[in-house]
Amino acid sequence: MLLRRAMIRLGVPLLWRRIAQVQAARLLRFGITEKDSEWQILHALDDVDDPATRARVLQHALEESHHAAEFTRVSLNVAERLPPKPLPPRAPIYETGSGVEGLAGFAAYANVGEVDVFEQFDAYAAGIGPGEARSVFRESKLDELGHVGLTRAILDELVPDKRRADWLVTKVRLRRAWDVWLRFGKTLGEINTTLVLTALYLLAGLLFGWPAWRRLVGEKR
Ligand SMILES: [Fe+2]
Ligand SMILES: [Fe+2]
Repeated sequence: MLLRRAMIRLGVPLLWRRIAQVQAARLLRFGITEKDSEWQILHALDDVDDPATRARVLQHALEESHHAAEFTRVSLNVAERLPPKPLPPRAPIYETGSGVEGLAGFAAYANVGEVDVFEQFDAYAAGIGPGEARSVFRESKLDELGHVGLTRAILDELVPDKRRADWLVTKVRLRRAWDVWLRFGKTLGEINTTLVLTALYLLAGLLFGWPAWRRLVGEKR
């Protein structure tokens, strides 16, 4: 988490402030992610029976919808036309009908996501300088802080044993760390492949190009 925060603080002055397309694409991406959060929450809401909890969860979904609209709006103010990108198919995180166990797992997953998104918005708000986008990050991060508390409160209601609830959160964190590690390994593998191929091309160029060049120089003499 600290690493991502440092990368945002480093990358924002280098790219964000200089290239409007980078800004717009990032803002649009946030809009899409927030919309997906809303969808995931509404999908799980069908299985929440308690009316008071339903009302709180619905409020949460509405706030994510508002964030999505705000990020999309400011992205269009930064750069009007962005190259269209196909969206990945939406896969529900909560499995319908999986009961208290499933809802608790989803609450733990959402709690970890809310903490992460708060950290990201906080880092962007601190790094991007004055403007509409900063206002959106600042306002949204306050909502996200509320979502951190709400998802944890729901998790605690579903799983009154604090140690078990903590373990559910830890399991999500471990799974996310493992996913990051796998993605990092894949990227590293791709970089390695590129480096090896570049070295091979250079070697082949030298092996085949050098005799040809010598012959050419010899003929000219
Ligand atoms: Fe949000
Ligand atoms: Fe949120």
